[in-house]
Amino acid sequence: MRVNSEDCRTIVDRGGDVEVIDQTRLPHQFLTLRLRSLADAANAIRNMVVRGAPLIGVTGAYGMALAMRESADDESIARASQLLEQTRPTAVDLRWSLERMSALLAALPRAQRAGAAYAEAGRIAEESVAMSSRIGEHGLALIEARRRADGPVNILTHCNAGWLAAVDWGTALAPVFKAHRAGIPLHVWVDETRPRNQGASLTAWELAMEGIAHTVIADNAGGHLMQHGRVDLCLVGSDRVTRSGDVCNKIGTYLKALAAKDNGVPFYAVMPSSTIDWRIRDGLREIPIEQRGEREVTHICGATESGAIETVRLTPAGSAAANFGFDVTPAHLITAIVTEAGICQASERELSALFPDRARAERAKAYG
Ligand code: MRU
Repeated sequence: MRVNSEDCRTIVDRGGDVEVIDQTRLPHQFLTLRLRSLADAANAIRNMVVRGAPLIGVTGAYGMALAMRESADDESIARASQLLEQTRPTAVDLRWSLERMSALLAALPRAQRAGAAYAEAGRIAEESVAMSSRIGEHGLALIEARRRADGPVNILTHCNAGWLAAVDWGTALAPVFKAHRAGIPLHVWVDETRPRNQGASLTAWELAMEGIAHTVIADNAGGHLMQHGRVDLCLVGSDRVTRSGDVCNKIGTYLKALAAKDNGVPFYAVMPSSTIDWRIRDGLREIPIEQRGEREVTHICGATESGAIETVRLTPAGSAAANFGFDVTPAHLITAIVTEAGICQASERELSALFPDRARAERAKAYG
């Protein structure tokens, strides 16, 4: 996608070092930084310099390549994979890419591992772009179907599921970008997405860069807007989907799905197949929900009038805070799932029909 009219991706191999956008600085500063080691890659994921399920997966793959540059023995493959997998527990794309990298590397002689690791990480990145683009085409049809004569299509989204969360195009925002480029009048309600404000800081920035009309709203405003007919459809991403169609996404997604159901607003979850965890069925019981530090809730970061970036405390010094990163929206609240292979109901039968080979292979891995 474009940044100040130039084409840009979130992660690029710069001849061995890996360049990423520092997402902790947006929207106030657009800065890139270089990952030069396995530790750099692990820290970038852990500290959310890079974030979003597909991008976490691709960064994990490059983390394996950086590890192979440091040491290509068998122990290094296992150690790197373990270190990277522990950085963030919820987005399953990370496990998917680490397993793919580990299997490939273990089968190769040591001397070939570093080169092969960069090539495979590059392939994973390219596949991600292709999947996001196809997701965009499928989702575009859903937006087109809601086109109205009396104004723009009003879309509500939560968190950041745009190109910053992937390599390019994104997941839930890919259809929005494609629809805008196809000339469909749009307006996006952007949930701010406390506590880290990925909506206010990242989604709003992406939409502004593309010239798409949008309004940032407090997280609790969505239900009110839906009650008054001001949302035509909801589009959200996902960090892990069970084979039965339960959708785990940024904390607060579940409440939006409840409000959408109550008001007859279509609620679509949008993700690449790398986000589907075929090994589990019950999202509430089986998906690990990341809990992050209290400080993300008790403090907030922003730019002052003079442009300085500052962090201030919101809560009384003695108040405890809890920081659950994600929640699970049960399949029955999801109107449909949008993937690179097409659109289906949030059910085991329909997901397996869309991805018969993946479903079979992953179940075999899990159950032998
Ligand atoms: O904590 P984050 O910012 O990594 O969470 C991101 C989300 O929850 C996105 O909605 C999700 O990754 C799907 S979009 C690619």
